[in-house]
Amino acid sequence: MLDSFLVALFVNEIFWIIRDVGMSRSSKRWNQEHQHDLYVKKAHKEKYRSRSAYKLIQIQEKFQVMRPGDWILDLGSAPGGWSQVAAGISGERGRVVSVDLVKMDPFPGVRIVQGDIMEDSGIEKIRSELEGRKADLILSDMASNTTGIASVDHDRSVLLVDAVLELVPLFLRHGGGLIFKVFQGKDFKTLKEKAFSLFEKGRVFKPDASRSRSVEVYLIGMQYRGIGLFPGSMV
Ligand SMILES: C[S@@+](CC[C@H](N)C(=O)[O-])C[C@H]1O[C@@H](n2cnc3c(N)ncnc32)[C@H](O)[C@@H]1O
Repeated sequence: MLDSFLVALFVNEIFWIIRDVGMSRSSKRWNQEHQHDLYVKKAHKEKYRSRSAYKLIQIQEKFQVMRPGDWILDLGSAPGGWSQVAAGISGERGRVVSVDLVKMDPFPGVRIVQGDIMEDSGIEKIRSELEGRKADLILSDMASNTTGIASVDHDRSVLLVDAVLELVPLFLRHGGGLIFKVFQGKDFKTLKEKAFSLFEKGRVFKPDASRSRSVEVYLIGMQYRGIGLFPGSMV
């Protein structure tokens, strides 16, 4: 009995040692790649807070999803690259409400909400910053901390997207648009069908700025039908 317990303990220790060595190698590789990355250099030069800004710029170039005067809800916004791009286009007549779990530095023309979109308190703060109005566009570049285990990262990404889809009837105007990130995996097709059923048009897009070895893609829903996910949940 004691023997099998000690063997299990030993196997468990070996597992964590191998995992830690693997992770420190992969974070070292990530750092090296990041330093040489074209978009990192470009973001630094053009004063964007993140290289992710270029993903939204490329989505905009392809689909023209944002217009001057738009009210835009940016979910998972920190450190703020997407919000910078969105605020630059929506301009003074528009509004960007940026939401993240972590504190984001202030930014002219951007209303910042620190909160969790999965909690009622976070949803109430969003409602208050939108002042009862619905957004023209919802963006979500949200991601949980990645583990490097594809199936776990996919499952977490799907949970976040489900939460975003629940916010759509609350905060998106009829005819509006939705852009969200998802890590591909076993539930991708179902998720895509579910999301696109809410819109007249849907597209899947991987911007050039998205690293080719990343399984992330962006889904773009255009012309919201004004319905919820469940039968009868019209809004
Ligand atoms: C890839 S970063 C976003 C980068 C951002 N688009 C930019 O350009 O700077 C993903 C963000 O999602 C946020 N996030 C994850 N889960 C969240 C949740 N439940 N509610 C709000 N934000 C969340 C994380 O804190 C993280 O800052």
